[in-house]
Amino acid sequence: MDLMDRWPAIEDLRRTASRRAPHVAWEYLESGTGLETGVSANRDAFKAVRMTPRFFIDAGEPDTTTELFGRTWDAPFGVAPVGVQSLMWPGAEKMLARAARASGIPYTLSTVSGEEIEAVAPEAGENFWFQLYTPRNPNMRADLMDRAWAAGARVMTVTVDVPAASRRERQRKAGVGMPPRMTPAMIARVMMRPAWLAATLTRGIPNVANLLRYASKDDLANFGAFVGKELTTAVTPELFADIRKRWDGKLMVKGIMDPQDARRAVELGADGIWVSNHGARQIDFVKPAIDALPEVVEAAGGHAKVVMDSGVRDGHDIARAVARGADFVFLGRAMMYGVIAGGETGARHAMTLLREELANVMTQLGCPRLSDLPGRLA
Ligand code: FNR
Repeated sequence: MDLMDRWPAIEDLRRTASRRAPHVAWEYLESGTGLETGVSANRDAFKAVRMTPRFFIDAGEPDTTTELFGRTWDAPFGVAPVGVQSLMWPGAEKMLARAARASGIPYTLSTVSGEEIEAVAPEAGENFWFQLYTPRNPNMRADLMDRAWAAGARVMTVTVDVPAASRRERQRKAGVGMPPRMTPAMIARVMMRPAWLAATLTRGIPNVANLLRYASKDDLANFGAFVGKELTTAVTPELFADIRKRWDGKLMVKGIMDPQDARRAVELGADGIWVSNHGARQIDFVKPAIDALPEVVEAAGGHAKVVMDSGVRDGHDIARAVARGADFVFLGRAMMYGVIAGGETGARHAMTLLREELANVMTQLGCPRLSDLPGRLA
């Protein structure tokens, strides 16, 4: 069956994915924090962005290409960093990396990835970006950056919006952890996902493979606690300055929501500001990221690129974010729906779908170029 007929929208990929991932992985992916009002607030805020079409224009084939950090990308969106992707679908890191490369968009690997930097980077080639959670230990910090650079990353983003682990009640109930809590209920639920189980048994139980080398024997016994203790820390200006000094490539700050922080990031030498509320996984009553975007764009004043994520689910949302001033847009959960639903083919399909939806709405709005979109805000 034609993929477009099978999965005409990201929501269709999501439905298939929800039947393929085991409960523990699905709860990890979907959860917010608290009552999870933030997750729906991100979505509602996107829905509230309305636009007006213009006619008497022959938009022709709209041009979705855009320039960012010295490169032309096929579309203004990319894969946001999502930890242990291979828990949600075995081999997901490499599948998404290959799909992103084939689609001409960036793939961002998380620090807490289920595969090592060195294994994933070659699959993404020049489309490989790295996300850094800042380790307290300076040696580990330097080593992660050096490894990313040696593997070919020239864009790195430092995530600042996890000063401490958040309380994810839904994840706790589902037994999410490192290693997962193997209760009889969890095992029974995993048995209901034979394709995932077979692939996982072949590949091995997922783990934060990228960080295993930094853990002592004692740490390994309680790896979740090690990762939590080592990686969740406030990113101070001094710490950021240190990172800036070491990283010769483009440097972004992920998790910025306030224009004052955006100005501070520019002063500290950031090349890009990544507006995000972490998919509403840290604070339940956080402002929607799409609403924080315009003020941050203004504060950056053209001195840094401004990208955004949190709540983007289709090509329409990408158009809305670009209309509100984003230079580039990222998707976390939506990309996972693709890879869980159909492996690398599903990931590629999600990317094609997003690009085609974006191109279509640009035509509908009378926008031959992405830079025409802000002029269509209602
Ligand atoms: C994330 N996110 C994230 N961010 C980051 O900087 N490092 C990480 O390791 C992770 N891990 C992670 C796991 C899961 C399961 C999710 C859903 C999210 C946040 C991510 O990069 C992005 O900000 C959000 O996913 C954006 O919201 P949407 O697109 O999921 O709505």
